[in-house]
Amino acid sequence: MPDRLTIRRPDDWHLHLRDGAALKAVLPYTAHQFGRAIVMPNLSPPITTAVAAQAYRARIIAALPANADFTPLMTAYLTDDSDADALAAGFADGAFVAAKLYPAHATTNSAAGVTDIRNIDAVLERMAEIGMPLLIHGEVTDHRVDIFDREAVFIDTILLPLMSRLPTLRIVFEHATTEHAVTCVREGGANIAATITPHHLLLNRNAMFQGGIQPHHYCLPIVKRERHRLALLESATSGDPHFFLGTDSAPHAVSAKETVCGCAGIFNAPSAIENYAEIFDAAGALDRLEAFASINGPRFYGLPVNAGSLTLERAPSVVPALVKLDDRDAIRPFRAGETLGWSIVEEDLS
Ligand code: DOR
Ligand code: ZN
Repeated sequence: MPDRLTIRRPDDWHLHLRDGAALKAVLPYTAHQFGRAIVMPNLSPPITTAVAAQAYRARIIAALPANADFTPLMTAYLTDDSDADALAAGFADGAFVAAKLYPAHATTNSAAGVTDIRNIDAVLERMAEIGMPLLIHGEVTDHRVDIFDREAVFIDTILLPLMSRLPTLRIVFEHATTEHAVTCVREGGANIAATITPHHLLLNRNAMFQGGIQPHHYCLPIVKRERHRLALLESATSGDPHFFLGTDSAPHAVSAKETVCGCAGIFNAPSAIENYAEIFDAAGALDRLEAFASINGPRFYGLPVNAGSLTLERAPSVVPALVKLDDRDAIRPFRAGETLGWSIVEEDLS
């Protein structure tokens, strides 16, 4: 196995950047590693219009460190009232590159999400016609369905029927967490793909309870059994173009995680590519990291791969213990304070 690896500059196809002080605090970590990111629209209030997306994009660009070379790719938050013409106009003029389906109440800031997928039939038909990707948070919200089964039930009751109704709709099944998800995506043809996070590749559900409750390992979709982690690992490292990098880095203040009703989300941006390198290395698949991190994503979205490169070395790097948010609060990164086996040593932004 090589000790040094140069790949095309990678992109993050699923990212939460938040706004205000949090945006300023977290953005440098992503901009340092990735050329582009698909930015999630679940702000409060959510990004539902092209005007709001353009304003948010401007705030992201204003928060970038000097000399950064980073392009935010904006998404529209779908609601029961989303309008097909407005969405198509936003896609045509580049305000949005995709639209995100949050089932109402599935996760953070999803209360305004879609209550029944049939309410947005007209929107989805138009998206299929114009080639606008649909990004899916794939979990049902029925409280009678066990939290560990919500992804599989979503696939059977909502995703598969949708794929039959609209076979030309381009779908990214975000943050896949189960064997069922990766099988459906692998066998689902050229119009479906999935992102896979570092934490779902590294953790099984024991991690939430290891030696006591671990709020920093709580995210949605929740981490699953070991056999699901192994299926994700096999898919991510297989080279199959259906699978690509999406961190789902989701920062929350420590005070919002370590509390009576802690928020869902894992902030992995500070060590995202180092984590993926370690995972691919351990799987004997370093030669496939570039496809997963830098090539499969842009191919699916119909975008060029990045011109620059990123060089990693098998050398220790330490994850920050905390990232300061403001005078009172901080965000705790995934694997805070741990030493990882890979480091970024060079970046060519050309
Ligand atoms: O764990 C999660 N956090 N899952 C999501 O779907 C949303 C995200 C967030 O925005 O915090
Ligand atoms: Zn997310």
